Amino acid sequence: MEQLTRGLLLVLLFPCCLTQTTASNTTSATPTSSPQPRTDRLKVRLTGFPRKHNEGRVELFHKGEWGTICDDDFSIVNAHVLCRQLGFVEATGWTHSAKYGKGSGKIWLDNVLCSGSEKSIEQCKSRGWGNSDCTHDEDAGVVCKDERIPGFVDSNVIDVNENKIEEVRLQPVVVAAKKKLPITEGVVEVKYKDGWAQVCDLGWTIKNTRVLCGMLGFPHERKVNKNFYKLFLERQKSYFHVHSVACTGTEVHLAACPLEFSKPNSTSTCVGGSPAVISCMPGPLFMQNSKPLYELKGGARLGEGRVEVLKDSEWGTVCDDRWNLPSASVVCRELGFGSAKEAFTGARMGQGMGPIYMNEVKCVGHEKSIWSCPFRNITSEDCQHMEDAAVRCNIPYMGLENKIRITGGRTQNEGRVEVLSADPNGTLSWGLICGEGWSTKEAMVACRQLGLGYANQGLQETWYWDSSNVTDMVMSGVKCTGSELSLSQCQHHKTISCQKAAAKFSAGVICSETVSDLVLNASLVQQTVYIEDRPLHMLYCAAEEDCLSKSAAKANWPYGHRRLLRFSSQIHNIGRADFKPKAGRHSWVWHACHAHYHSMDIFTHYDLLNANGTKVAEGHKASFCLEDTDCHEGVSKRYECANFGDQGITVGCWDLYRHDIDCQWIDITDVKPGNYIMQVVINPNQEVAESDFTNNAMKCNCKYDGHRIWLHNCHIGDAFSEEAERRFEKYPGQLNNKIS
Ligand SMILES: *[C@@H]1O[C@H](CO)[C@@H](O)[C@H](O)[C@H]1NC(C)=O
Ligand SMILES: *[C@@H]1O[C@H](CO)[C@@H](O)[C@H](O)[C@H]1NC(C)=O
Ligand SMILES: *[C@@H]1O[C@H](CO)[C@@H](O)[C@H](O)[C@H]1NC(C)=O
Ligand SMILES: *[C@@H]1O[C@H](CO)[C@@H](O)[C@H](O)[C@H]1NC(C)=O
Ligand SMILES: *[C@@H]1O[C@H](CO)[C@@H](O)[C@H](O)[C@H]1NC(C)=O
Ligand SMILES: *[C@@H]1O[C@H](CO)[C@@H](O)[C@H](O)[C@H]1NC(C)=O
Ligand SMILES: *[C@@H]1O[C@H](CO)[C@@H](O)[C@H](O)[C@H]1NC(C)=O
Repeated sequence: MEQLTRGLLLVLLFPCCLTQTTASNTTSATPTSSPQPRTDRLKVRLTGFPRKHNEGRVELFHKGEWGTICDDDFSIVNAHVLCRQLGFVEATGWTHSAKYGKGSGKIWLDNVLCSGSEKSIEQCKSRGWGNSDCTHDEDAGVVCKDERIPGFVDSNVIDVNENKIEEVRLQPVVVAAKKKLPITEGVVEVKYKDGWAQVCDLGWTIKNTRVLCGMLGFPHERKVNKNFYKLFLERQKSYFHVHSVACTGTEVHLAACPLEFSKPNSTSTCVGGSPAVISCMPGPLFMQNSKPLYELKGGARLGEGRVEVLKDSEWGTVCDDRWNLPSASVVCRELGFGSAKEAFTGARMGQGMGPIYMNEVKCVGHEKSIWSCPFRNITSEDCQHMEDAAVRCNIPYMGLENKIRITGGRTQNEGRVEVLSADPNGTLSWGLICGEGWSTKEAMVACRQLGLGYANQGLQETWYWDSSNVTDMVMSGVKCTGSELSLSQCQHHKTISCQKAAAKFSAGVICSETVSDLVLNASLVQQTVYIEDRPLHMLYCAAEEDCLSKSAAKANWPYGHRRLLRFSSQIHNIGRADFKPKAGRHSWVWHACHAHYHSMDIFTHYDLLNANGTKVAEGHKASFCLEDTDCHEGVSKRYECANFGDQGITVGCWDLYRHDIDCQWIDITDVKPGNYIMQVVINPNQEVAESDFTNNAMKCNCKYDGHRIWLHNCHIGDAFSEEAERRFEKYPGQLNNKIS
């Protein structure tokens, strides 16, 4: 049972300009500005291929139909108007001749000539709606600068400004309960421009509760014991402002429900009723002592990320056509969060690697699972990973960011980590963390708790930062799994034990909104595997680089051979920042034999494991020269090894190690025939930050008969369901149990 916390629920609401609301004549609140009802706004979208969230073919929704714009007379000025209309600060370019593919249906506008000050493309000069002599070969596109207009919200976002709803928070009634977060139960209050008020519960239904719980970060609602509040409410002076709330339960915000306003602090409007009280059920993540069960992929913060769904034991993504808030809310609630705050299209949270399962998902909002919603099956021709859908969910207020801070850094995003702790007398004070053992994992948790996204680096020494106001060390031996919500959930020493207890050896972080994410192409490994018996006289260089197993040292050089399991590795960066080696160029190691620099000592582990997980082939630790071998269309290569060039892997590019290059193998000379698991782990020491480490290992079932080798079921670490992964691990002994 989760801990119940009784409390006073406060909903902040500014009652201006609710388009869905019938404002009663008793209201004293006068609308300040009245933006155009959104239904009157021209809808604009970017589509086509290859498309990103900030570029594509322009389509306009007019008379119930999507159509394109002809490129005749098109200019950057038109592009500026369109980009601003889409919520971006400006355009960086435009395209002609259907660069993003040909549209279909109407060509809505032609010879468009904007002056630049227009708020909407329809205000620009043109030949008029539908009047065009073009074909779809001339469809125009725009490239917008990837920077949003501050406060801009598109149709997939609840427009909080328009509805004058500011924030939602909870405040407990019982003083003792104030310390227990999250607060899940209490009296509903709304805040509007003149202050706080309660909501009249006449005609209240559990559907209203569901909407409020969703806004507050909770997936489910429950019945409340009103008797508990009866006395309290009778003693309190009630002050109502909102009444007749009638949500259907699928809304993602109270402002979207029909409701009415009454004169503030007038008791007459709720005769026979009392202030609404609600109770919510937190998701498993937010119950006491609970560990995270599942995360959305690629999001910098809790409750946001790319949507991945499980089908036939394998995880896959959702295509973004028609992706909207009701569908996103179903996903959020299913994962234990509240309703959705935003529904993202265009792989805003990075691209997946696996199958794409669904398109045109059309949830109503009350479905238990996204699989219960109508959708279309898709084939890879319909959708690409650059259209992966993502969400940002409402999460309960936990106050975790108030128990940690960073100091001394050069920017807001870096510094020594300080935690709030209580002495035996209960006095709270800030203190530092011992740097020993502090790694990327611990830094990830600290940055997440701070609300600053990912950790780019975890630092064990911080002497080079300003140390004019340092505090004492209060924590040591911190060990996290990396998925905790706060440092207090990680293990640490009971009493402080730190070899170098000075502030300059305290733990530090550099946080970042975006980091890289490397993934190995598993099917390529499976397709390219073979055995080579390579003569020793061709392996001098490999021996020098430590690419052979230990027994090679005892061989009768240069006579004889080594048996090598060879395969190609294609390592993709599907993250949101380039992958760059941690070490600076000055510390790269020149390998004369292969005539290139190694920028990371250990970049991958190649292993062959037996049924009980023991390594049977010498774990080969490969270091590479990192570069962009090739990139997806529209992405340009940036890193090149030759001539002491910059090393790294650009987002959208991959580094290919062909099966026939030196050291791209596992030395299996000493391995007996049998069934094994072959494993490749990229960035195994998590030396460089990535948004997701669960996809860094790739595993295959491996059958070796003494002459030939077969790989099956090659997959990346997070591709299968837990149950399918267990079946896979049991593989040695039973071939052909292909997981499908
Ligand atoms: C509200 O007030 C306006 C003007 O004061 C009046 O014309 C209208 O009939 C009133 N509506 C109702 C429902 O009383
Ligand atoms: C209504 O009354 C309460 C209690 O007296 C007060 O705290 C609140 O600010 C008032 N609200 C307005 C809008 O006057
Ligand atoms: C999608 O395909 C599966 C099997 O391939 C089928 O069972 C299912 O009914 C299809 N769903 C839709 C919505 O077409
Ligand atoms: C706790 O309070 C007592 C009495 O005020 C004081 O003597 C003692 O030093 C305090 N302990 C700490 C750790 O602050
Ligand atoms: C150190 O603390 C003093 C006093 O609180 C403050 O004035 C000063 O700005 C602080 N220095 C830094 C670098 O934070
Ligand atoms: C992975 O390799 C396979 C086989 O060569 C190829 O068809 C596929 O396009 C690759 N995947 C990606 C994401 O590049
Ligand atoms: C694992 O298997 C190997 C050989 O198959 C055996 O020698 C070893 O004792 C096993 N280890 C464990 C922990 O069972």
